[in-house]
Amino acid sequence: MRKNYAVIAAGGLGTRLKDYKHNESTKVLIDIGGLSMISSQVMQLKSWGFRDFIVITNPDFNDLIKNDLQKNFTDENISYVIQPSPKGIADALSYVEAEIDNNSLLTFILGDNFFGENPLEKINLDNFSGAHLFVKEVENPEEFGVMEIDKDGNAIDIYEKPKEYISNLAVVGIYIYDTSCFENIRKLTPSNRGELEITDLNKIYLDQKKVLSKVLSSWWIDAGTPERIEELKKLI
Ligand code: DAU
Repeated sequence: MRKNYAVIAAGGLGTRLKDYKHNESTKVLIDIGGLSMISSQVMQLKSWGFRDFIVITNPDFNDLIKNDLQKNFTDENISYVIQPSPKGIADALSYVEAEIDNNSLLTFILGDNFFGENPLEKINLDNFSGAHLFVKEVENPEEFGVMEIDKDGNAIDIYEKPKEYISNLAVVGIYIYDTSCFENIRKLTPSNRGELEITDLNKIYLDQKKVLSKVLSSWWIDAGTPERIEELKKLI
């Protein structure tokens, strides 16, 4: 069977949560009902059937994140890579290239994204190539990557945090890629905020006409703000 790695982005610094409950650590170590966010993330992925994990951390918190996961997960295959500085979500992904077997798939998930359903359920990935994205209807699309679709529901374009209304479909923080993602990341240039954007990576796949997408019906939380963390605690 084709190997599908769960790759978790936990390399950002979580600056929007710096003072949340005196948090001086990184966002993914915040407690969510008895477990850290990163351990809760591994639990979520395990419940969907993942067995091979790669966690992308940053130099300041690598040891703390590793200790936390080693304490909670003794039998799982978890490896760690360090993103030297937070230069974007696509930049983070580039560091896992050396860890991946040929012809495998990567399910790339942002450490702070949690779901009320397994987005991969009922998706056949045996012969998959390209990028599989997932969208969710939201009331605040300007806070996310947003997908424009045609009348048949096919993706036309994606915009990162658009100021003007494009659609109410947020591109959620879980993406399935084939290993051509690494070649595509090498084509990216930094955005205005100096980051390699995941939205720009997805736009390359769109240009190549290799994007599939699915609308999620259950809840989704990007636990990137104190309010959303409180909401997550109630749901999880
Ligand atoms: O949650 C979905 C949204 O996530 C998407 O709709 C957006 O298109 C996407 O850009 C992203 O937006 P955010 O503003 O939520 O991304 P944030 O900068 O908060 O980063 C999300 C996670 O990625 C964070 O928990 C840590 C990790 N990260 C982030 C950066 C910038 C890294 O591992 N390395 C990085 O350099």
